[in-house]
Amino acid sequence: MSQSPSGRAGVVDPGTERLTPPLHGADLVVVANRLPVQQTSKEGDDEWRPSPGGLVTALTSMLQNRNGLWIGWPGGSQHDELPETFEGIQLRPVDISPEEYESFYLGFSNATLWPLYHDAIRAPTFHRHWWHTYAEVNMRYARAAAEAVAENGTVWVHDYQLQLVPQYLRKLRPDVRIGFFLHIPFPPSELFMQLPWRREILAGLLGADLIGFQVPSAAANFSRLARRITSATGTATDLVYEGRQIQVGAFPISVDCKQITAMALDPAIRARAVELRATLGNPDLVLLGVDRLDYTKGIQQRIRAVAELFADGTLDPEHAVMVQVAVPSRESDAHYEKERHDLEQVVSEMNGEHGLVGKPVIHYLHQNLPFDELVALYLAADIMLVTPFRDGMNLVAKEYVMCRTDLTGKLVLSEFAGAASELRGAFIINPHDLEGIKEGIRSALKVSKKEGKSRMSRMRRKTLRRDVFDWTNSFFAALARPVQPVDLETVDQFDD
Ligand code: F6P
Repeated sequence: MSQSPSGRAGVVDPGTERLTPPLHGADLVVVANRLPVQQTSKEGDDEWRPSPGGLVTALTSMLQNRNGLWIGWPGGSQHDELPETFEGIQLRPVDISPEEYESFYLGFSNATLWPLYHDAIRAPTFHRHWWHTYAEVNMRYARAAAEAVAENGTVWVHDYQLQLVPQYLRKLRPDVRIGFFLHIPFPPSELFMQLPWRREILAGLLGADLIGFQVPSAAANFSRLARRITSATGTATDLVYEGRQIQVGAFPISVDCKQITAMALDPAIRARAVELRATLGNPDLVLLGVDRLDYTKGIQQRIRAVAELFADGTLDPEHAVMVQVAVPSRESDAHYEKERHDLEQVVSEMNGEHGLVGKPVIHYLHQNLPFDELVALYLAADIMLVTPFRDGMNLVAKEYVMCRTDLTGKLVLSEFAGAASELRGAFIINPHDLEGIKEGIRSALKVSKKEGKSRMSRMRRKTLRRDVFDWTNSFFAALARPVQPVDLETVDQFDD
């Protein structure tokens, strides 16, 4: 492996090296930034547990059926005790040094790409040394996949931290089928063009046979940019690049509907929901927000909107209360630290101005709650507030909908969350418009029982139609579709 002579590009050049397929390789390999297990400390003993969430469940069951292996970062720098297998799938850790954690994870992934791909609501930072490390670490993941996958096997690469992996992997192992899925938004050209390494990122993704996005507009943004910046030709959904055919499409991710429904009907969790409401003083109205503590989620905006509704008398502190769960995230980044500080200020102002003795108007939990406690909160909440400035999908919205088996509950949802294109029964708001958020909450308060139920029923039907297992199956089916030989003479040029 060598560095490209071009300091600007700084991309790792795998050269002409080809790896021989391993003798007993895995038929299917998932490559993601993190492994599907996390280390938890219990009474001094470290224990590995599955990472929470439907995505891990769905991918794990797909890997179990296909002699599968998962490549990812175990989280800390120590993984001596990492099990070799987990629920029947092989685990292959990728090492990331403390310096690489700074440049690859906190730097290029979360201070360059993350803000840039989320409407640049915080200024993205561009550093050449971050980019170099990003390329090096991506090569490490690609090499691990190339060494693990069987001849003509399949590799499914996930998310923005690993956008160069498809290209590197293709060079090392041209025999394998490569899929890539981006879990976060893909920005329009006005933003993406800021990236000094825009061509390299696009070329990295174009190493895949199938590139999936959450929503059609993200897929369209990508195809348009690929044709503009690289030598790719073709249509919005079928590109041709370096003589290969590449499919591009939208595959909206979802949740494990069966599991969530079972939890929402579980008597113990239902009793906990009743208990939670009682602890809150059995108010007439419970408003709820559940988010990773991230500046993209619009948490402060929504709290300000609710505070103004208390101020103008729409909400009464004797009878209404809000609960905001903010899951700690990326805490060593200055933007996240500031977001926490500002958010806690807003929470304390709201309680200071509108709370009563023994009756705060907002309960704020900066904690990572177990999923059954979240389900109990979803059951206890009359109105769910999901107001991100930009979000790839937002699974909290779908989780809430899946919990409301009796069709009660209202969802106020940002038009800039991917989920908004599916959950049309929500009260759709613009999170930049404080009056608009207030109006959305007012509409949710006023809606008749009948219309509320019909809205929830519509959202539940839509979500039930495609759960996270359908998502993995549809992506995998598209990836397995036989490639048509490319006739370069007849490829259409898509006209922008
Ligand atoms: O939404 C993108 C994502 O990377 C998820 O995959 C992940 O659960 C979340 O952001 C937090 O990511 P991390 O803690 O790895 O930065």
